[in-house]
Amino acid sequence: MTDRLCVHPGRPYRGAIQPPGDKSISHRALLLAGLAEGESELAGVNSGEDCTRTRAALEQAGARYERRGEAWRVTGTPGLSPGQELAVECGNSGTTLRVLAGALAGYPVRATYSGDASLNRRPVARVVEPLRRMGARVSARDGDRFPPLTVEGGGLRGIEHHSPVPSAQVKSCVLLAGLRAEGRTRVIEPALSRDHTERMLPHWGVPVERHGLCAAVQGGSRLRGARFTVPRDPSAALFWVVAALLVPGSEVEIHDLGLNPTRVGALRVLERMGADLDVALEPSDEEPRGRVRARSSALHAADIPAEEIPALLDELPVLAVAQAAAAGTSTVRGAGELRVKESDRIEATAAALRALGVEVETREDGWSVGGRAGRPFEPGRVDSRGDHRIVMSAAVAALAARDDVWIENIEAVVTSDPGFLGTLRRWQP
Ligand code: S3P
Repeated sequence: MTDRLCVHPGRPYRGAIQPPGDKSISHRALLLAGLAEGESELAGVNSGEDCTRTRAALEQAGARYERRGEAWRVTGTPGLSPGQELAVECGNSGTTLRVLAGALAGYPVRATYSGDASLNRRPVARVVEPLRRMGARVSARDGDRFPPLTVEGGGLRGIEHHSPVPSAQVKSCVLLAGLRAEGRTRVIEPALSRDHTERMLPHWGVPVERHGLCAAVQGGSRLRGARFTVPRDPSAALFWVVAALLVPGSEVEIHDLGLNPTRVGALRVLERMGADLDVALEPSDEEPRGRVRARSSALHAADIPAEEIPALLDELPVLAVAQAAAAGTSTVRGAGELRVKESDRIEATAAALRALGVEVETREDGWSVGGRAGRPFEPGRVDSRGDHRIVMSAAVAALAARDDVWIENIEAVVTSDPGFLGTLRRWQP
């Protein structure tokens, strides 16, 4: 793949779009199936690099994954060999690193987790502290702050963990470690982060107690093989929803889409901005799913306060594109976590928008964007900083630009959506 991309102003697109399987849910499905007793069958799994890292790590641990047409047949490895040493290469995937580190900490094995240059700059102290308190022997680079992270597990005791950040990775790490700990493990979050782990564990036979911001599991609970279909990814879908809103004459429809309430905050914001959206929930299992339709719309400004951030965290770069196209000034607050994502997404988003003629001011925990009231973006050159969501957000902005936009460092798109460039071509003249 070439490492830069020229995107022409978009032509109206009308039709269905098929985003990939949900990345967060796919990680968890691969993991729960890989550690369960017996066989699981998984359909709709995201085939991007991040989820492939999780699968490869579990294969190293002894789980077997076989392709059955579009699905995966998984034979779990519920009892890892004591004393086993694992070297887990997580690439760009924070979820592989933080969630797997917890799931495997319950076993008497020694695992080292490392990543690419971006992941090796992302914080791990948030999982080192609770895992150590549970009794695992844990160390990480630079005073336990960054990967590589080494965990020697086994012999854990349950804890009550008050997470300082609303993070589904931290919550999942601790709850999954708790499955093989003595007693109960409880996680309390400051705000509800995505709750896929809590919803999916019962599907694999493990009860989860939930009250408001607390979730708890009982040690000694056993995962049992299950059949599961992963819904399409609402974060990946949102790029095309925003593209449809911004390119006049467009209308897209997305089916089998994940509509978990902890993930769809961006749709609520867009509705507030005047977007012509139609969302229909369909009967489903643990993970809500349904259909979304979006039609091109004139948007007005909206502020996104701290309380809304957890349910739209990964969507903020493309929401900034919508804010930049809207009439009036929009803000984001309480999103400091964006600074420790695949890139510093506050600065990367602001730099991308400025390159396209948008006025943006950043603050420690967000931004203020001067909307162009539907006036096309200027042509320019955007550096994605190797972050998949910045590549895709810039590509969506480019569809609503006056002339060609170049995006540098696009290789990262394959981490979450290997089909992204194919879908983008449908919007090109
Ligand atoms: C994820 C949780 C979020 C999110 C990431 C996926 C998950 O990260 O940004 O893309 O699958 O648990 P944090 O837990 O760091 O908020």
